[in-house]
Amino acid sequence: MAFEKLFEPIKIGDVEISNRIAVSPMNMTFSTQDGYATDQNIAWHARRAKGGFGLIITDAIIATRLAAPFVFHRNLYLYDESFIPGLNRIVEAVHNFGAKIFAQLSIGFGRQGHALDGSKPYAPSQIPMEIDIEKTPKGLMERVYLIRGRTDPRGEIPREMTIEEILSEEQRFAEACGRAIIAGFDGIEIHAPHGYLEHQFLSPRSNRRTDLYGGPLENRMRFIVEVTQHALMVVKKAVPVGVRISADEHMPQGFTLDEVKVVVKKLQDLGISYLNLSDGSYEALKYFFPESMDHVENHLLKEAKEIKKVLDIPVITPSVHDPIIAERAIKEGETDMISLGRQAIADPDWPNKVREGNVDKIRRCTRDWICLIRALLGLYPRCSVNPEVGFEEQNPELFPNKRKGAAMPSSFVKWQQS
Ligand SMILES: Cc1cc2nc3c(=O)[nH]c(=O)nc-3n(C[C@H](O)[C@H](O)[C@H](O)COP(=O)(O)O)c2cc1C
Repeated sequence: MAFEKLFEPIKIGDVEISNRIAVSPMNMTFSTQDGYATDQNIAWHARRAKGGFGLIITDAIIATRLAAPFVFHRNLYLYDESFIPGLNRIVEAVHNFGAKIFAQLSIGFGRQGHALDGSKPYAPSQIPMEIDIEKTPKGLMERVYLIRGRTDPRGEIPREMTIEEILSEEQRFAEACGRAIIAGFDGIEIHAPHGYLEHQFLSPRSNRRTDLYGGPLENRMRFIVEVTQHALMVVKKAVPVGVRISADEHMPQGFTLDEVKVVVKKLQDLGISYLNLSDGSYEALKYFFPESMDHVENHLLKEAKEIKKVLDIPVITPSVHDPIIAERAIKEGETDMISLGRQAIADPDWPNKVREGNVDKIRRCTRDWICLIRALLGLYPRCSVNPEVGFEEQNPELFPNKRKGAAMPSSFVKWQQS
């Protein structure tokens, strides 16, 4: 079978991507404890670019100083300029193999945060998250709790964010977008899915505020709208800005697909260039991490199709691991691009194998959760079918030994001139 649609180039804003296959954003916890990029971060992304992915979306990079202490174990940071050189090395290593790379920037974990020094996480309201074990893939959280010695699926009770903090965080986030451009990223993705801070504001389940940021949808979406407006104002079209959002919360009192359609339409009207879809949250984990190997009934493609009815910008849909389904979904207009998360861990050469007609040689993800459980416990992820995971830095071919293309990233020049 020829996979013509999968290998058709696509434009996101002004950025041309050579095919429709992206690496899903994944925090592989390869950074240093204080958020700097390591050789392993660089080699990890470069290896996927070498394997033929047209677009790499980075791990969630923590954009603000306030958010930084609340990560699970390790994340990349960008709350000041000291983080730019390491991120720039990731960009250059990816460009060396001809792929584009977008920075996923996070404004924070909200009530999902856990500070090692015992300080309280902050959130829209003082409501802890509550994981629904029935909506968790079999064996996943049970095993994490077993090791952590916890049985309670409730998170910490957060403190309520002040209006001053909300406004200041929006500003700080926008400043990090400027740093991402200087680091040379081809695009910026606002990280708003999976129960993190913007998601918490959007959800009547976690947002019980009585001020301008709580109540009707117009108020609950104010935070994500303002974060996007501030980001777009700083970026000034130098690079495309997109948003990642969960299509549905799948929880009692949670937001619904119909509400998300209103939100994403508003974000498109503001000027975002693409939408990266996801689903659920840590409370309803099986939507966020589809359990089944059978993607014929992929619920995310159904949601993407619904969402595309209100959008003109490209939509990226995760968890479509089967190239035949991916090709059909793009051909039939259900999605514009697909992304691979765990499947990109299992086989970084998925795109090249599909393009070369070697579909039968793809090393399939077995959904045994080794990658995620290890990341949640602070260990480097490993993969039971790909022994190279976590050791990519030992391959010298993944590091550029001479610069290709212009000496200065074109996005930076564009930004300077805007
Ligand atoms: C180890 C790991 C880390 C992840 N980190 C992020 C992240 O930083 N940002 C994000 O938006 N999604 C993150 N995800 C979710 C993935 O982007 C993706 O949506 C999810 O794995 C489902 O896609 P899949 O079925 O292809 O794995 C992570 C997933 C894994 C396995």
